[in-house]
Amino acid sequence: MLDIQKIRADFPILERTVNGKPLVYFDNAATSQTPTVVIDTIVDYYTKYNANIHRGVHTLSQEATDAYELARKKVQSHFNAKHSHEIILTSGTTHSINIVATGFSALLEAGDEIIVSAMEHHSNIVPWQMLCERTGAILKVIPMNQDGELLMDAYDALLSSKTKLVFTNHISNALGTINPIEEIITKAHQHGAVVLIDGAQACPHVKPDVQALDVDFYVASAHKLCGPTGVGLLYGKEEWLNKLPPYQGGGEMIDQVTFEKTTYAGLPHKFEAGTPNICGGIAFGAALDYMNAIGFDEIAAYENELLAYGTQKLLEIEGLKIYGTAKQKTSVISFNIENIHPYDIGSIVDKLGVAVRTGHHCAQPIMDFYNIPGTVRASFAFYNTKEEIDILVEAVKKAKMMLS
Ligand code: ALA
Repeated sequence: MLDIQKIRADFPILERTVNGKPLVYFDNAATSQTPTVVIDTIVDYYTKYNANIHRGVHTLSQEATDAYELARKKVQSHFNAKHSHEIILTSGTTHSINIVATGFSALLEAGDEIIVSAMEHHSNIVPWQMLCERTGAILKVIPMNQDGELLMDAYDALLSSKTKLVFTNHISNALGTINPIEEIITKAHQHGAVVLIDGAQACPHVKPDVQALDVDFYVASAHKLCGPTGVGLLYGKEEWLNKLPPYQGGGEMIDQVTFEKTTYAGLPHKFEAGTPNICGGIAFGAALDYMNAIGFDEIAAYENELLAYGTQKLLEIEGLKIYGTAKQKTSVISFNIENIHPYDIGSIVDKLGVAVRTGHHCAQPIMDFYNIPGTVRASFAFYNTKEEIDILVEAVKKAKMMLS
């Protein structure tokens, strides 16, 4: 059992008001809030040992380097990567995906096939389309049903010896669906394809084990799991990271530079050109410590309770329809009310202190599938409460009354 009031006290922002009402923050799928321990880590870094890393013999630089490399080890341990050099610290999920998508330009041929799912975020569609444009590879899409579940028979039919890459999210940001990634990975490997899993929405709710999954690449962002923005990870199996060319040239990623020829550094530095988000990386490590101390099993169990409660209460509102009713889903509720634009609902509930996201959630193909302009999305975290869900439900009722 989580002590929610104690947990809430860790998040100073939850004490603020919005439009004169207590903040109810239900936009956790866009970004999570930040506990004091992570804020303190950031302040501590800039107050006591702000310096560039891997570059100086001076004490501050060594302290910063040690803290940054310790954070990398925390990320390694959290995701159970075999080696710490398989963890590339990036600016976030989008950056991580682009490193892989750009790198594969050198490894694909015209006619090769890439499979993505129908419920991807734009960041897991557009880089692969750009890769197809560069190489002549062909993009194929695993379709989904009305509940927002992937059609695995259709996936089987798409796989062939031409399939080189498979990319899906672990959990959909717009629908909350938990995808069967174990099956997706195993089947892709049976056809010799490489798999990248976008874990941006999964990592706040589950703790992935990249070795048990046998996944080739796994990517995520710190800011979805109580860390700061502008930092994330690219996990890659050593053999694949060695095969990919560097993404950016610059300092840090080299071994020797002459005007005739440059040789590159080994992993992970080959993919970490330039001064990284040092403070962000260190704070990412602190965020993982914080969440692991609470426990991901406890977090998932509590969020499932919130999901069940929120689903039941929202469905009591006449004319409200939920998009994303998969049997396996996490605490994301996307909904609309008949004949009312989601933006209007979002604006009114904000006046009542409730933060939700409205729109296509960077997943336009999903909205096209349901033939809707967008949804209202309420996404719950482990620091939310049923009382807050009651406030959301009353706010939505009020919006409906005003807009009908
Ligand atoms: N990908 C983030 C979301 O779903 C920004 O809101």
